[in-house]
Parts: sequence; structure tokens; C-alpha cells
Amino acid sequence: MARVFVTRTLPGTALERLAAAGHVVDLWEQEVPTPRAELLARVAGADALLCMLTDRIDGELLDAAPRLRVVANYAVGTDNVDLAAARWRGVPVGNTPGVLTDATADLAFALLLAAARSLPASAQVVRNGQWGAWSPTGHLGRDVAGATLGIVGGGRIGQAVARRAGGFEMTVLTTTSRGGTPLPELLERADFVSLHVPLTPATHHLIDRDALARMQPTAILVNTARGPVVDTAALIDALHAGTIGGAALDVTDPEPLPAEHPLLAAPNVIVLPHVGSATTATRGRMAELAVDNVLAGLAGEPLPHEVTVPAEAAGAEPDAGGTRPADT
Ligand code: GLV
Ligand code: GLV
Repeated sequence: MARVFVTRTLPGTALERLAAAGHVVDLWEQEVPTPRAELLARVAGADALLCMLTDRIDGELLDAAPRLRVVANYAVGTDNVDLAAARWRGVPVGNTPGVLTDATADLAFALLLAAARSLPASAQVVRNGQWGAWSPTGHLGRDVAGATLGIVGGGRIGQAVARRAGGFEMTVLTTTSRGGTPLPELLERADFVSLHVPLTPATHHLIDRDALARMQPTAILVNTARGPVVDTAALIDALHAGTIGGAALDVTDPEPLPAEHPLLAAPNVIVLPHVGSATTATRGRMAELAVDNVLAGLAGEPLPHEVTVPAEAAGAEPDAGGTRPADT
């Protein structure tokens, strides 16, 4: 009998499979992320951890969890997990790839369309009772059909966005690790730039002041990847200066974004509360994959969706000290 700490309530019935397999589920049921101190205390007796992108899984946490045999992150991104620290301690890490590809690509396209046609601002005009009359010059947006879309990141989600762009008869430019359009050229040519890279040291502030300066003054930046891929301060300046035409963001740095944050006061910006995978069916499928990873880890089997450590991080122990006790 193993103990599984689950850091948030999940949609669907996946957690029932843990109980059916004879495991004890310790569930943080509150509608806020598990506070750090609580997380450190609750993992002490856990054999498996099913955690969220809002939980920081680092050497300190792993050392507080001597029995831990698997970390199942309820997300495709694993930037919240110190993969090298987990590997050093022999704890496999799993994620939830594939099942959220379409939902995330749909949301990227929804943001692109919403920004191109200023949907939030126009809807607010009606809601405010300020819609006087139809006007030939009112609420003018930008054409999506025929425009050029630059997709940064050629993985599953980027490819799914490219398929949607085909339906809108857009010209698609993509950066990939093996060829594609170089990022500077993509930024210079694109009417819309959509980000689909994981957050790693190499992609942190990939869209910085210099990258924003390369974009067209009318171009719209769409981010459904991770907030820190964009330099927030540089983005705010670019929006005020008119260096770019607008930004439509599902993810921000920081997250959550405080209501008084200067990004919200910048012109032509749409911010959503990190809802790329937020459909009932997708979040249910993510829970099934996370549970698959937990069950495999507890059985001592390879995780069906195991995250491999990037070569540059493998073998490096980022924390000073902390020796993992031998497995019992
Ligand atoms: C969500 O952002 C995810 O990585 O799954
Ligand atoms: C990740 O890129 C995914 O599509 O699941």
C-alpha cells in the first residue's frame, strides 16, 4: 500500500484508479495551491506525488520526501520541476503530453483572432452602453486570412497551430530545432507571432527587447507557452512605444498577474488566467495520464510519459548537500 499526495482536486474520475489499486490518496482539497510548508510536510510520508505547475519541486522538497518514487506533474510543461535534482535522487518525473495539444492550439488561435479584431474592447463598448450606431470606421481590426503567422517552436502544439493557420489561408513560418525560419527573420516577417516553446534556460526571455524591436509595429504577440519566455518589462515598453501592435497572453510573468500590474495598463493587451488546457475533457485526460505515471512509478515500471533531463543538466546536482538515503 502506497501513499499518494495529490496537491489539488482534479476533474474527472482518474484518482479513483489509485484507490482501486489499493493506494491511499492524500488530497489537498482547498481551492488554492498547497502552501509550501504544507507541501513539505505532506510529502514526508508520500511514495508518489501528483503535483501542479504551481508547485515548485526542487531539491529541498525531494529531500523532505525520502520515500518518494515518482513525481507526476499535471502539465506538459515541467519548468516547475528541477529535473536534474530529481534525476540525481533517482526519482522519475512524468508529464501529460499530447492530450492538451488541441485545446492549447485552439486557445492560441482564439487569442490571435480576439487580438486581431479587438474583441474584448468591442464587447466592452456594448456592455457599457456606448454603442451609438454602426460605423464604417469604428472598431477596425486586422485581417487574419492571408496574413503571415510566425510560430516559435515546432513541437506538437506549434504544429497544431500551423494546421489551424492553414484553414485561415495564412502563410506559416516556423522555427524548429532542425532548420525552419531563423527567429530574427520570422520576427521581422510575421503579422502574428505565436510562442510554443517549453521554458528552459535557453528560452528564458527569448522574446526580449531586441526580439520585440524586430517585430512589425502592427504585429501581435501571442503567448500560450510560459510567461518568462517573454521579458515582461520589455513587452510593456514595446506596447507603450508602439514597437508592436498588441499582445494576447494566456501566460504571464508573474503569474498570477496582480490587477494593478503595469502590463494591464499597456495598450492593446489581452491577458487570460493560464487556461490553455482548460476544457473539461482535456483536464480529465491529463488526470488519467498523471495517474498512469503514478501507477507505473509505484509499480517500479518505466513511466509511460517520462520526462528526460536535457543533456546540459544531466549529471549536475544543482543543490549543495543533501544525500538521498538508500531506498528501503
Ligand atoms: C500547462 O501550462 C501545461 O504545461 O500543461
Ligand atoms: C507538447 O508539446 C504537447 O503537444 O503535448
